[in-house]
Amino acid sequence: MMRLKQDEIEMLEGKQGHAVQRAMELLVKYGEALGAEEFCDTANVCGTMSNTTPFLNKILSDFKSYDHMMSELNFDCSDVYDIPEVRCFSCQLEHGLDPDTYQIQGISQSKYEINAKDEEVEKRMNVNLICTCAPYLTGNVPVFGEHCAWMESSAVVYINSVIGARTNCEGRESAAASMLTGKTPYWGLHVPENRLGDYQINVEYPVESVRDWGLLGYYGGWAAGEKIPVFNGIQGQPLLEHYKHCGAAGASSGGTEMFHVVGRTPEARTMQEAFGGRKPKEVFTFGRSEARQMYDRLNSTAKSDEVDFVMLGCPHYSLKQLWQAAMKLRGKKVKDSVAMWIFIPRALKEVSDRNGYTKIIEDAGAVLMADTCPALGRLMPQGATHMATDSVKQGHYIPAILGLQSSFGSVDDCIEAAVSGRWKGEF
Ligand code: F3S
Repeated sequence: MMRLKQDEIEMLEGKQGHAVQRAMELLVKYGEALGAEEFCDTANVCGTMSNTTPFLNKILSDFKSYDHMMSELNFDCSDVYDIPEVRCFSCQLEHGLDPDTYQIQGISQSKYEINAKDEEVEKRMNVNLICTCAPYLTGNVPVFGEHCAWMESSAVVYINSVIGARTNCEGRESAAASMLTGKTPYWGLHVPENRLGDYQINVEYPVESVRDWGLLGYYGGWAAGEKIPVFNGIQGQPLLEHYKHCGAAGASSGGTEMFHVVGRTPEARTMQEAFGGRKPKEVFTFGRSEARQMYDRLNSTAKSDEVDFVMLGCPHYSLKQLWQAAMKLRGKKVKDSVAMWIFIPRALKEVSDRNGYTKIIEDAGAVLMADTCPALGRLMPQGATHMATDSVKQGHYIPAILGLQSSFGSVDDCIEAAVSGRWKGEF
């Protein structure tokens, strides 16, 4: 049984309204199933109320009203018809489409309208429409030690590892319930001893680029599974983009929710601190042959070198990546037979327009998109058969989700493929 504080008991008794009561009931069941003994307060929740994934579209007609559907899908109950405002700072992660470019994405008008309705309800609930899988890039940056309740595996691993904030990888229902209550079960990565490293990975292959860090993260996820990998021996200063791609990759090949980089990330200033004095469960080496294995695995579905789709921006591109892509595309032309889509957080679109990046990208024949991505929205250019990407995560999922061939490499490889229509990337 969980120990409940007075405010939690009152929520459970319905003193804060029926919807909050239902949300609290859900969290208590969830916490007890996990073995949590208490809740912690959170003032930072990222989840989704979006109903634009293909799976959810099929059942829209089963509900009496939009709030009724939201209650069933987000709070796992069927008797909340009036969803109140959230109780703490809450953000919507990515949607299933970009309302500005949905027609290019091949999305129907009816799905666009569902998205608009979702946003209307979220605004009424006071959920911030940040609409990105990387909220830490644009407006929601937690601090060290802050208890959060976030969905989205790549964002979870980033804020745990790089910032030292604390979150488990929440689900749609638990995140929504946390929005209405400001509570999340105190278990998993909220508890300091659970944040210690499990597996040591000695890094002997020099990881210098986003591509290399993606390969390292992919290896870490494979080696450590759902446990915490500790990368040892990193030379040089890793950048935000390196960590972003490393975490997203680890959450794809394994269940990485946190990693440590000895001497770099905040809870691993030393090996001693990373492991808390415990012995690693196992020690691995990431050398050239391991990096090569990961690279080959990510390129295993490519049957030809002809590329007709280039996808950049998974996780959504940072401002620096957007700037780099614009500079690399300046004066170039994407081949007529290739569609090039670049995904960024909505908030960076304004910056991009103002800096002239959008014009450079569009003049080159590429399209800037926000709010979603191919893997999440199940979207791709009509007739696409072979995608090139600089993202391990996208390269991992797209062949399975959309049946496309996939080639993974550096951003330069991808831009070259966009211009020539051919994949020339090499390890
Ligand atoms: Fe984001 Fe989609 Fe990648 S939601 S992390 S761009 S799979």
